This record gives sequence, structure tokens and C-alpha cells, in this order.
Amino acid sequence: MELSQIYAPVNNDLLKVEAALKAISQVDFPWLSQLLNHSLEAGGKRIRPALTLLSGQFYNYKLEFLLNMALSIELMHTATLIHDDAIDKSDMRRGRATVYKIWGTEPAILLGDYLFAQAGVAVSGTQSIRCIRAFSETLMTISRGELNQAQNAFNLKQTREQYFQRIYSKTASLFCLATESGGILSDAPESSIQLLKSYGHDVGIAFQIVDDILDFTGTEQELGKPSGSDLTQGTLTLPAIMLNERYPADNPVKRIFEGQRNPEYIRMAIDQIRNSSIVDDCYKIARSYCEKACQVLQNLPATPCRQSLMELADFIVKRRK
Ligand code: IPE
Ligand code: IPE
Ligand code: MG
Ligand code: MG
Repeated sequence: MELSQIYAPVNNDLLKVEAALKAISQVDFPWLSQLLNHSLEAGGKRIRPALTLLSGQFYNYKLEFLLNMALSIELMHTATLIHDDAIDKSDMRRGRATVYKIWGTEPAILLGDYLFAQAGVAVSGTQSIRCIRAFSETLMTISRGELNQAQNAFNLKQTREQYFQRIYSKTASLFCLATESGGILSDAPESSIQLLKSYGHDVGIAFQIVDDILDFTGTEQELGKPSGSDLTQGTLTLPAIMLNERYPADNPVKRIFEGQRNPEYIRMAIDQIRNSSIVDDCYKIARSYCEKACQVLQNLPATPCRQSLMELADFIVKRRK
């Protein structure tokens, strides 16, 4: 199923988010305008703003507040990607050269900062102290996750538990914010806000597991960003953890992480993971999170947006980009 079909109940409002993103690029400073345009133009899947709008449709759909929230979340997401690409020295994102690649590290840091601040302006438009606070806490959580990842680069002694904690921090926390804020801003009962948050958490975890699988099984063409980069960066993800669990005495991941940075070992690790049941086992875990997310939704009113959230959970495990 196409994302535009899944987003059907909020497609018109997502166009408004798109227009707001475009408006942000219109500044009286041509270079900044160019950087903003490059980063905010269509190309991303817009899953997080869609989650906010869909989560906001169960009760009192207060469009102005929800649009500000959806906008702030996509801006925060974009800023984290610009910083992430500079940290990872990554060349491609959304099928085009990264800010880091074209303009270098310093503009990438400063543009990311600019977008975080712009996201702060947008979230203030929700007039909800609770959302503003959750927004700031999420940014702290994401930063913690990225710091944890940097600190543990090439550390083979990381458990699955640490992996799940990290992907919560760097990815699922923002999905939680997207769905929780939709509930808050539509005056949902507290119990429903918590259900939406739980859904966001579980699809967020599944989303990052799938991202980590695709880093081994996808191509640059499909993903619009480099594949095979997690091992090069020394990021121990679920497929690599499983390979190391299965062959603890010797395996290419172990060799790379113990200092033998031979590209041949990266190719071997990718091949071994692709040609084993590891990919399937990772997908099983991702699917189980999505199933749990959908079960939770059963406790919310049966509406078209609930159907969309179910379809989105399904999309997340089937996606190839
Ligand atoms: C990429 O997120 C970063 C991760 C959390 C894996 P998306 O895959 O949602 O990126 P875009 O916005 O669609 O480019
Ligand atoms: C998500 O993880 C990064 C952020 C939270 C910014 P990845 O490092 O896996 O994202 P990609 O693969 O570069 O999109
Ligand atoms: Mg990255
Ligand atoms: Mg990735």
C-alpha cells in the first residue's frame, strides 16, 4: 500500500505542513534559503507529522495546534538527520547529496541548530506547555541516544537490552512524541493519550529495527542513503548482535570491532547476515512490535484514522525505503 493511501484522512492537512515547510525556506539571506530549501523540500516519507495528525483525529481535531506540532516534529527530525549525516560523514540522504557533503560540517551543525530553534517556534504555536515540555525532553532523549551510540562505537560487548534502549532514545522517543502530542492537542482522555503513546513507542522501535535490517539488505538506490554504513560506523545493530551471538568464537563483525577494519570483512558480514535466518528473525521481532501496537489501537474508537494507523504499522515492516 502506498503512503498517500495510508495518509488519506490527513492528506490535505499534510499539504499544509508541506506549505509551512516551504515557507520556512523563504528568508532574506540567499545562502540560508538555499540550505533550508535543500533540506526541507519533499523527499522524506513524512511519517512523523502524519502520525501526529492521525493521532489527533480521534477526538477534537484542533487543526491549527496539530499543524504546528506536526511541523515542529518534522523540523526536529530534519535537524537530527542533518547532524547525524555530519557525524557519520554520510554522502547521501533522500536521494540527494547531504548538507555535510555539499557545504561541510560547520554549515551542517549551524543549519541543524537553526532548524531546532525553528522547531521550538513551531511547537510554541501549540500553546500547550505539556507538548512544549515533551518536545524538549524528547530532544534530550535523542541526544542521549546519539551520544550513547558514539560512546559505544566499535564496542562488541553490547547487549540486546542496550540496543533496545538506544533505539528507543534515538528513534522511538520521537514517534512517542508524535502520537502522544496528537492525543494531547485533541483533548483525548488521558488513557487514550497513553494508548497512542504506547502505539508510537512500538512502531518506533519496529521502524528502527527495519532501518537497521535495510542497512544490510537494501541498496543505496532503494534507500536514498548509503547502505552498509552501520558497520563502517561501528554501530552494533540487531542483525550484527545476532551474528555475533551465533558465532561467538569468530565472525566478521567481531573482527571489524576488534580492529581489523578491512572492507572485505564488511562485505562478509553483510553476506553472512543476508544468507542466514537473521534477517527473518529481526523481521519477526519488528513485526511483533507492530502487532502489539495494533492491539493497543483496538481500545480506541474505530475510525478511518485508526485504520490508517494500522496500515502504517504494516507499511513500516514492509517498506524498502
Ligand atoms: C530516518 O528516518 C532516520 C531514522 C530514524 C532511521 P526516515 O526513514 O523517516 O527518514 P525520511 O524522513 O523518510 O527521510
Ligand atoms: C537514526 O538512526 C538517526 C537519528 C535519530 C538522527 P540512523 O543513524 O540509523 O539513521 P540513518 O540510517 O542514517 O537514516
Ligand atoms: Mg545515520
Ligand atoms: Mg540507519
